[in-house]
Amino acid sequence: MKANWQEMIIRAQKTSDLSIEEITAILGAEDAQGMLIQAADEVRRKCVGEEIHLRGLIEFSNRCRRNCFYCGLRCDNRSLERYYLAEDAVVDLAKEAIRCGYRTIVLQSGEDLYFDADRMASIIRRIKEHEVAVTLSIGEKTREEYEAYRKAGADRYLLRIETTDEKLYTKLHPGQSLSERKRCLRDLKELGYEVGTGSIIGLPDQTDEMIARDIRFFREIGADMIGLGPFIPHGDTPLRDEAGGDFDKSLRVLALVRLLLPYANIPATTAMETLRPQEGRRLALSAGANVVMLNVTSRDRRGLYQLYPGKAKAKDDPMTDRIQIETALRAMGRTVGMTCGNSKAWQENQK
Ligand code: 5AD
Ligand code: SF4
Repeated sequence: MKANWQEMIIRAQKTSDLSIEEITAILGAEDAQGMLIQAADEVRRKCVGEEIHLRGLIEFSNRCRRNCFYCGLRCDNRSLERYYLAEDAVVDLAKEAIRCGYRTIVLQSGEDLYFDADRMASIIRRIKEHEVAVTLSIGEKTREEYEAYRKAGADRYLLRIETTDEKLYTKLHPGQSLSERKRCLRDLKELGYEVGTGSIIGLPDQTDEMIARDIRFFREIGADMIGLGPFIPHGDTPLRDEAGGDFDKSLRVLALVRLLLPYANIPATTAMETLRPQEGRRLALSAGANVVMLNVTSRDRRGLYQLYPGKAKAKDDPMTDRIQIETALRAMGRTVGMTCGNSKAWQENQK
């Protein structure tokens, strides 16, 4: 078996291709991890370089009309204090982040109908008066809404598929469908967004083969960004008693994604840092990741955006956080990108 995965990893490094069966085999081989991570790190260096792109994340509303089984923001969770920021407050936070040197602002929220297309377009236009990329992460919308945000200047959109397994998707997302999720991703691509997607690793009943199919899906749709993180059970959700995702498995998925989508942007996600405080982010950056998102939401609200418990929090103000992370990244031999950090995958497609 050993010779088998060794050959597969070497081949994937050259061809950026593996079958579902091969991905499944590597995911299950704990002893493949060292070699896999090394291969992914080499591909990362060769294809996207040493630069790490920092994103300033604004969580502007934790209100959500959805009821995803795993998420603390689900509408049935009545024990969470809800908040939303006024338009001016969102724009002010963005401006502060821009002053601190962030070149991408990520606007994230639950699916909050108060922020309709007009309101979002206005926020986007005001932020786009500055030289900065705007990424949205606000859920499933109509094509017309996606078009309106794009016209207002939005550059990128994050919408994780979460899992491509139809049965599991339907079970975990009451009232939602996998086909509608895919429709959203297709529309976003067609409208010229840089599109980010991704999965949760270690969901109840999720198999390695399902994860392998997720990875093939990211490739098929030409994803520009892929966010991955382990499942972390939340006490106020129906999945409170389930086992959480495995950190090392998540790292192997990340490394495989780098091998199969060599030019994509891959964040070292907060869920990785939460599961392995002090080192999760660094380990992800050494296994293929090249992006870090830092929370620039006002501190009094940060604790309320509880997708999962213990969510690693940015501790200080945007400037201090930025300086700290730059120091840590330099110690790893990496640099901080000075551009907006468009994905190389996306740039290739524009040619
Ligand atoms: N564990 C891990 N990730 C989660 N997310 C939501 N809840 C959890 C959880 N309990 C992720 C989803 C969502 C992203 C914003 O956070 O993948 O798309
Ligand atoms: Fe809402 Fe997103 Fe949480 Fe689902 S994952 S409940 S859509 S915030």
